[in-house]
Amino acid sequence: MLAVANVYFVLCVRVFSGLIGRSWAMVFVGGGYRVKIYDNQPGQAAKAITEIRKQLGELEEVRMLRGELNASQQLALLSSHDDLSQALEGAFFVQECVFEQLEVKQSLFQDIERLVGKDVILSSSTSCLVPSSVFSKVHNRSRCLVSHPVNPPYYVKLVELVPHPETAAMVLDTTHALMTKVGQAPVYLKKEIDGFALNRVQAAIIAESWRLVQDGIISVKDIDLVMSEGLGMRYAFIGPMETIHLNAPEGLEDYMKRYGEGIRRILNSFRPVPEFSSEGAKSIINEMCDLIPNDKQHLSARIERRDQLLLGLAKLKKEHSK
Ligand SMILES: NC(=O)c1ccc[n+]([C@@H]2O[C@H](COP(=O)([O-])OP(=O)(O)OC[C@H]3O[C@@H](n4cnc5c(N)ncnc54)[C@H](O)[C@@H]3O)[C@@H](O)[C@H]2O)c1
Ligand SMILES: *[C@@H]1O[C@H](CO)[C@@H](O)[C@H](O)[C@H]1NC(C)=O
Ligand SMILES: *[C@@H]1O[C@H](CO)[C@@H](O)[C@H](O)[C@H]1NC(C)=O
Repeated sequence: MLAVANVYFVLCVRVFSGLIGRSWAMVFVGGGYRVKIYDNQPGQAAKAITEIRKQLGELEEVRMLRGELNASQQLALLSSHDDLSQALEGAFFVQECVFEQLEVKQSLFQDIERLVGKDVILSSSTSCLVPSSVFSKVHNRSRCLVSHPVNPPYYVKLVELVPHPETAAMVLDTTHALMTKVGQAPVYLKKEIDGFALNRVQAAIIAESWRLVQDGIISVKDIDLVMSEGLGMRYAFIGPMETIHLNAPEGLEDYMKRYGEGIRRILNSFRPVPEFSSEGAKSIINEMCDLIPNDKQHLSARIERRDQLLLGLAKLKKEHSK
């Protein structure tokens, strides 16, 4: 039997596809926790539950439901609230997932701090704001951190735990244990930094891909294949550091002896940060839209396909972790 405790949830719901709060709720009930969903748009939290019910049912059918409870048991752990203080009652953990607007997050956390006990952990889903900004209006910042998920968190399990300069080690460790228990893959950042780790690495990849296309070296279609048929094959299972450690007979030191200078030469040839909205950007955008038109119908179909593929990959990774 799983112990059932209370995780509270502030906000989620996106009417379209987005939905970080909704996904978090599914992850936490999968782990057997009680979850209260709150949204400041009346009725929105209830709508989120309707959507979650549908998704849990579908996941149960394809045997991809997480945790040890069945879909109806997981649903029974969920409740929706239009009142913040009600949603927070009894909580030990709050995961905020409101709009990516600094002032909205700052004032929400100010309200939350007034309503919860002193040991409750305050966690933000923000992708682009550092903890020292998000929590600047909270008095006790030792209990605050960012837990940054990747969309969709149900299949892509990484969570970046990013401390405020004042975050207590205990708070980070408790969150790490909670995320592990619900089946996510948490990593610690030792300090806050703009973009955290994932988005910094992603920005480097976007920049060089963009430049290679803009400089007429490769097409949009083919640079995507470089990743999906090349680098990405390894990266779904091992990261860049292990990749290079395994790519020389005597490991990493040997690899750098052989290839370090070459990598430095390439890095020194990198051109400046691209202007993503210049005249030159138009032809890249057109090339992409010729492959996948940017209307709602084509984009949703590709998003659906992406999520199906991620589901298959999540299954494969689960088999290999046994
Ligand atoms: N979508 C992604 O890919 C992704 C990935 C990682 C992290 N995030 C982060 O998650 C957060 C939410 O993103 P999303 O894509 O789910 O956004 P969203 O627009 O889908 O959802 C935001 C929700 O917040 C509600 N809301 C707004 N102000 C509120 C308030 N004061 N109190 C309560 N509820 C309020 C809105 O009604 C809406 O339902 C953002 O900080 C974003 O950076 C998103
Ligand atoms: C879910 O599990 C509960 C408790 O074991 C059981 O009563 C219920 O019938 C199950 N529901 C389904 C749809 O399997
Ligand atoms: C601040 O938060 C920490 C971590 O939750 C807690 O242990 C401590 O008691 C809090 N301090 C005050 C003054 O509330």
